[in-house]
Amino acid sequence: MFVRDFAWGAATASFQIEGGWQADGKGPSIWDTFSHEKGRVFGEQNGDVACNSYEMWEKDLECIQQLGLTHYRLSLSWARLLPDGTMQHINDKGVLYYNKVIDDLLACNVSPMVTLYHFDLPQALQDQGGWKSPDIATLFENYAKFCFETFGDRVKLWITINEPYVCAKLGYEDGIHAPGLKEKGTAAYLVGHNMLRAHAMAWHSYDSTYRQKQKGAVSLAINSDWLEPLHQDSNEDVAAVERDLAFTLGWFAWPVFVNGDYPEIMKSAIDAQSKKLGYKGASRLPSFSDDDPAILGTADFFALNYYTSRKVKAGGGCGQTLCMKSDRDAEELLDSSWPISGVSWLAVVPHGIRKLLKYIKDTFSNPAVYITENGFPQVGPLQIEDVERCEFYKDTIAEVDKAIQEDGVNVCGYFAWSLMDNFEWADGFSVRFGLFHVDFSDPNLSRTIYRSGREYATVISKYKSGR
Ligand code: NOJ
Repeated sequence: MFVRDFAWGAATASFQIEGGWQADGKGPSIWDTFSHEKGRVFGEQNGDVACNSYEMWEKDLECIQQLGLTHYRLSLSWARLLPDGTMQHINDKGVLYYNKVIDDLLACNVSPMVTLYHFDLPQALQDQGGWKSPDIATLFENYAKFCFETFGDRVKLWITINEPYVCAKLGYEDGIHAPGLKEKGTAAYLVGHNMLRAHAMAWHSYDSTYRQKQKGAVSLAINSDWLEPLHQDSNEDVAAVERDLAFTLGWFAWPVFVNGDYPEIMKSAIDAQSKKLGYKGASRLPSFSDDDPAILGTADFFALNYYTSRKVKAGGGCGQTLCMKSDRDAEELLDSSWPISGVSWLAVVPHGIRKLLKYIKDTFSNPAVYITENGFPQVGPLQIEDVERCEFYKDTIAEVDKAIQEDGVNVCGYFAWSLMDNFEWADGFSVRFGLFHVDFSDPNLSRTIYRSGREYATVISKYKSGR
């Protein structure tokens, strides 16, 4: 049973909804650059206008109120606040915009959960090496402090970095997210390392300077699929699941929640693969040194983005190349009994969330958990009566309920992805995750509630009133 003060939310991210890419002194971000390059995004689309939330925030607020959300998760655009990423120049108009958003939410009794970084690094910082640069953690810490100082009197739930796995792997190794690099071997590990350092430095700043007065909580949003062995009775497949989990959830959760370091399985798998391929340098996975901030304990709750599940079998890899796929040595497959949603990566597996929540409880000493994202995509012809998505939410929320009641997981909140259709990264506007439809062909970008939005509102009102 969901408690009365359970957080019922929906989430968005700055680049995916705001538009106004050059408005009022905003600096360019890596997603502006990337989406303006040919061949990067479906249909050469970009985020120049997106849902135009920069100018149409009031419309978003109406949607939020129509759903009856208790919480709204948004992200700040670093380059809108600090156009070149540093404290050299503060863009007052950007500060005004987010102040208004936060104040309006609170006036409507909606608590903001604010993400500091959701994929859109200021381009000026990318030009200095981006997340590979040794200076990035300090630059992020300065930005975080600025945000705590400016908005922390009203924001009580903070996410430092959203999905570091995705930023590192898709951005620096696969090249399908900004900055679009395909550097196999070490880059993604270095990016992940710097993201952990940056996150920890921001958390420590909050802890030492702001916590007492502002009384908020800070975490980082970790994405993970639920993984099961393809053959239950195969020791190799069982080991492959453990290894694969270590490379996804474990990569970031182990240092923060377990021991301040990467999972042993991950470290040894990378070193074994390096040796096998004759790599002579130092470990491709950086180590934490005494100069680094302490990483252990730098999360006040567990923030989980869950979408889907996979069957895993031992093997896979990319031949003789040093890459994360080879290091993991685990092949991810779909189960034929799991329906596929509109996109190939998202099999519909609501029970996976319950299993993953139980795993998190058992592995990380029963932390408070916020499900910071979960959702279902629609592609092709528009269906406002989105019955499949309704089923998805109904089944997933029922599994979360079981995780709380039957498994004793301490789940404090659930955020649907997303409040409205928006710029779905490399898929542009072709994939729709919204509870509201946005008509991108209409100059007014009108928002229309989907059936799933209406049903989510009913769920929320039922639990809010304690029925
Ligand atoms: C997770 C990301 O945080 C979000 O930006 C994205 O739109 C959803 N996954 C759906 O792919």
